[in-house]
Amino acid sequence: PGIAFGLDAPYSVEYRDRIGSTNERARELAAEGKSDVAVVADEQTGSRGRLDREWMAPSGGVWLSILTRPDVPTARAPLFTLAAAVATTDAAREVGVDARIKWPNDVLVEREGSAAGADDSDATGRGGRKLAGILTEMEGEADRVGWLVVGVGVNANIDPETLPAGATSLSDECGAPVDRRRFAATLLERYAELTDSPEALDGVLPAWRERASTLGRRVRVDTADGIVEGTAVDVAEPGALVVDTDEGRQRVHAGDCEHLRD
Ligand code: BTN
Repeated sequence: PGIAFGLDAPYSVEYRDRIGSTNERARELAAEGKSDVAVVADEQTGSRGRLDREWMAPSGGVWLSILTRPDVPTARAPLFTLAAAVATTDAAREVGVDARIKWPNDVLVEREGSAAGADDSDATGRGGRKLAGILTEMEGEADRVGWLVVGVGVNANIDPETLPAGATSLSDECGAPVDRRRFAATLLERYAELTDSPEALDGVLPAWRERASTLGRRVRVDTADGIVEGTAVDVAEPGALVVDTDEGRQRVHAGDCEHLRD
């Protein structure tokens, strides 16, 4: 199936016109002991978003989930999510869309003049419109990943009228529909390249930094332990955001990040 999809990556592809959720299907395959499968769908009827949020996945998007069983410590698992954000950004750039990453893994497009300080504010990140989101699910032992499902949702050929507020699509940015098969293949190939060995994983943070929108910006991060506000200065292993706050430097491992006006 990998060959039929024209894919130069070590995954077999299960394609569905319509599915509840590709993440859910990938989890079923994981329960059957499978690995190295990419589930790709044209439309999802029961998508899962981060933090239990709703995610719209009508026909025309790129909705996919990659199931692997990487032989790495559980502590490094967040790198796979960041790798998916890098891979999605690169696939978008290949079709001419200047995508950037908002920590930890939202892929945004900041239009000319709409960077920090402009009034393009929205629910998902001021100064940018959300092109893609990523939801990772995993199971493993304390020290080793068992299976890992990285789900990527890209608003590919979606009419802007039907997008949620603060979102954009590849077709809207490009002014014409994109080749979704090719886009998915680029994304999957790049993801495989970034994650296929422990050495390759070492390259994820440098690649993420180069594509980041968040670094150098004022941010407000909503974490389980409260709000962290300050200047985002770096991302550190295994994907923590380093924020300079009035109380000093803090590392944030998980949370919802908002870019503030500078
Ligand atoms: C987010 O909330 O930003 C993450 C959204 C992730 C959506 C994708 S679409 C493919 C995969 N299947 C799902 O049900 N969710 C993810």
